[in-house]
Amino acid sequence: MSGFGFHTGSQVVTASGATWVAPASQDCLDAVFEIETDEMAPDCFPRFFFTQALGLFGPGFLVARIGVEVAGYALLGRHAEGRDAELYSVVVGARWRGRGAGEALTRACIEVAQCWTCDAVRLSVSPGNAVARRLYETVGFERCGFEPQYYGAGEDRVLMRLALSAEGA
Ligand SMILES: CC(C)(COP(=O)(O)OP(=O)(O)OC[C@H]1O[C@@H](n2cnc3c(N)ncnc32)[C@H](O)[C@@H]1OP(=O)(O)O)[C@@H](O)C(=O)NCCC(=O)NCCS
Repeated sequence: MSGFGFHTGSQVVTASGATWVAPASQDCLDAVFEIETDEMAPDCFPRFFFTQALGLFGPGFLVARIGVEVAGYALLGRHAEGRDAELYSVVVGARWRGRGAGEALTRACIEVAQCWTCDAVRLSVSPGNAVARRLYETVGFERCGFEPQYYGAGEDRVLMRLALSAEGA
């Protein structure tokens, strides 16, 4: 994917064609919550979580738009210990999938982690989530662990990590 760039202080984090990634704002939270409930129920975050996330995640709360429509969101946070960031959530609405929004959000999170001077980005993914695992491998994540029953009975997690260099991932 081409056309990416990070512009500190501006609203646009990345752009490629009609797909734009920018920090979340109050006016996109209804659309973000609609995507969350449509795609993640019954394990979705409540609406108030996203209001709180604006302040808690700051520039790590990103929204992808295709044209003017909100297509998905991502959450990136920093671990309390160490210098790694965690890609906490990436969700794209079903009707917007396969158009690069998931990859754009993931790459934008990596750029934010780079700006935070993190050593690495970590994430967890279900072993059966082949689309997400392939996406993460495409942008450079490598499997670094496995934890059975993490999400509940029979719900394991694969841990992945992308090391960042000072020059860029
Ligand atoms: C994972 C997810 C974010 C990907 O979003 P997306 O916008 O469709 O992703 P992209 O368009 O950037 O495509 C990324 C890769 O997935 C592939 N892909 C997208 N939709 C696909 C589908 N339905 N079937 C197979 N592959 C698919 C793309 O082809 C691309 O792979 P490629 O570059 O090798 O061609 C999206 O499927 C989603 O929101 N899933 C539900 C939430 C979730 O599981 N999040 C991850 C939790 S760890």
